[in-house]
Amino acid sequence: AAIGFGSASAADYPTRPVTMIVPFAAGGPTDTVTRLVAESMSKDLGQQIVVENIGGAGGTLGAGRVAKSEPDGYTLLLHHISMATSATLYRKLPYDTLGGFEYVGLVTEVPMTLVARSDFEPKDLKAFIDYVKANKDKVTYANAGVGAASHLCGLLFMSKIETQMTTVPYKGTGPAMTDLVGKQVDTMCDQTTNTTNQIKGGKIKAYATTTTTRVSSLPDVPTAAEAGLPGFEVSIWHGIYAPKGTSPEIVKKLSASLQKALKDPLVVKRFADLGTTPVSDADATPEALKAKLTSEIDRWAPVIKAAGVYAD
Ligand code: MLT
Repeated sequence: AAIGFGSASAADYPTRPVTMIVPFAAGGPTDTVTRLVAESMSKDLGQQIVVENIGGAGGTLGAGRVAKSEPDGYTLLLHHISMATSATLYRKLPYDTLGGFEYVGLVTEVPMTLVARSDFEPKDLKAFIDYVKANKDKVTYANAGVGAASHLCGLLFMSKIETQMTTVPYKGTGPAMTDLVGKQVDTMCDQTTNTTNQIKGGKIKAYATTTTTRVSSLPDVPTAAEAGLPGFEVSIWHGIYAPKGTSPEIVKKLSASLQKALKDPLVVKRFADLGTTPVSDADATPEALKAKLTSEIDRWAPVIKAAGVYAD
């Protein structure tokens, strides 16, 4: 009877609202991607997807919450590259990265931008690098905690120019952006999903993108290589997860719905406006997300170990 009930409920799924957890603060880049995708998926699934922000500790708190949730399809996680890097960065995690989740699929890959408060003195990337080297710890750098995309980008930048800045951690780059616009912090490296509108509106200054070619929604912002820092490249991939043990039928339904959402013209357009492109059907699958997560853990582990940065 239990099996019969289980498969019947999987066939009917979802019969009530689904919660999608964003492991960062509201109003930031992960939140933006999640809300766009969740809205489109909820139309397809015929049930509301409620986005819940559980920020803190570079995304590991929210991921831990999902790993401990009922594997019934009603609690999901949308997380990014930190899922892979935190596996090495954190000595102790409240979940098992590879054993604690089912995979729904990849979502998108987002470029980053090195930005500063609008009145920050250096006018271009070269001047910025000179300024940071001359002022070091006096320059403040906002990020979303150890393992966050903004943290990784900052580490990469500081290692390339062989200088340190003073880190100011937030529960997400949403609130960090508020402080950058308010000129309370000097600089940040953040995803275009959070910086595009502020750059275009003249609320912050952009020095470079972390891409090899210019981001089409930000045609005036040079790539790092163009601006004088070749090799400063990073992009942030996102995926949707469910707690381990969620039924394969439910996961399949979610993957199919994700694939539809990523072809929704409204989602495609909003993504393009923010400098990103949805992944293909082939990548919005459990297999592709699992393969990406596994290869990214392997790619980042030696980099993190060599840098010797860890969190407890
Ligand atoms: C966020 O949504 O706040 C970001 O993805 C944080 C980050 O990883 O830098």
